[in-house]
Amino acid sequence: MSQTVLITGANRGIGLEFVRQYLADGNRVIACCRQPEQAEALLALAEAHPSTLDLVALDLGQPEQLTGLKAFLGGQSLDLLISNAGVYGPKGVPFGQIDADAFAPVMAVNVLAPLLLVQTLADHLSSGAKVALLSSKMGSITDNGSGGSYLYRASKSALNAIGKSLSVDLAGQGVSVALLHPGWVQTEMGGPNALITTQTSVMGMRRVLEHLDLCGSGRFFNYDGTEIPW
Ligand SMILES: NC(=O)c1ccc[n+]([C@@H]2O[C@H](COP(=O)([O-])OP(=O)(O)OC[C@H]3O[C@@H](n4cnc5c(N)ncnc54)[C@H](OP(=O)(O)O)[C@@H]3O)[C@@H](O)[C@H]2O)c1
Repeated sequence: MSQTVLITGANRGIGLEFVRQYLADGNRVIACCRQPEQAEALLALAEAHPSTLDLVALDLGQPEQLTGLKAFLGGQSLDLLISNAGVYGPKGVPFGQIDADAFAPVMAVNVLAPLLLVQTLADHLSSGAKVALLSSKMGSITDNGSGGSYLYRASKSALNAIGKSLSVDLAGQGVSVALLHPGWVQTEMGGPNALITTQTSVMGMRRVLEHLDLCGSGRFFNYDGTEIPW
C-alpha cells in the first residue's frame, strides 16, 4: 500500500537514496532540503514523479522554518517521518583542541532539530505511523573503542536519548520510533573508503522499518536489523 514519507536532508547521500527508493515503490514523498531550487537530483526526480514528489525548503539550523513545513502539510498525515539530515562537525580534531564554537551548530542540527521536527509534526502521525531517526554507531557508548570525535559522538548519544523518550511519549498515539545506524556508507560524510553503498544501506533500513512495531519501538538498530547496544 502506498505510504506518505517525509525525509529531511533529502538532496544528497542517504536522504536522496531514501527518496529514490520510496518513490520507485510508488509511495508519495515529501523531500525536505535547504535549497530545493539547487537540488539537481531532486529536481530531476520531481520531473519524473510530478504527482508523488514534493520538495520543501527546510534548514534545520533555523527551527522557525518548521512552521512553514507544518503549513505545507496542512491536514495531511504521514506514515513515515525520516529525520536523516546531520552534520559531522570538524573532522580529526584531537582531544586538547576542541573548539567551543563548533559545539552548538552540531548539537542544533543533530540533536535539537530532530526533536523539534517530531514535536512539530506529531499531530500528523496517526496510529501505526513510524519515526526513523538517523543515528550512528558512533553514538553508542558501549561500542566506543577508539575515542575522539567528541562532538559527533555526543550528538548521536543525545539523539539516542531523545529517540528513547519519543518512543515512550508517542506509544499512546500508536507511533513507533527507531534509532538507525545506516552502516559506514559511501557519501560525502562517510567518504570514499566507506564499506557500503547508499543503495545497500537504505534497502536494509527500509526492511528494518517495515518490521518496526510498538514492541521494537525505542531501540537502536543497525541497517542489517541487528540491535546495537547503547
Ligand atoms: N555516511 C555514513 O557512513 C554515516 C554513518 C553513520 C550515520 N550517518 C548519518 O546518516 C545521516 C545522513 O548522512 P549522509 O552520509 O547522507 O551525510 P551527507 O552526505 O553529508 O548528507 C547530509 C545531509 O544533511 C543535510 N543537512 C546538513 N545540515 C543541514 C541543515 N542545517 N538543514 C537541513 N539539512 C541539513 C545536508 O544538506 P546540504 O546539502 O544542504 O548540506 C545533506 O542533505 C546523518 O544523520 C549521518 O549522521 C551516516
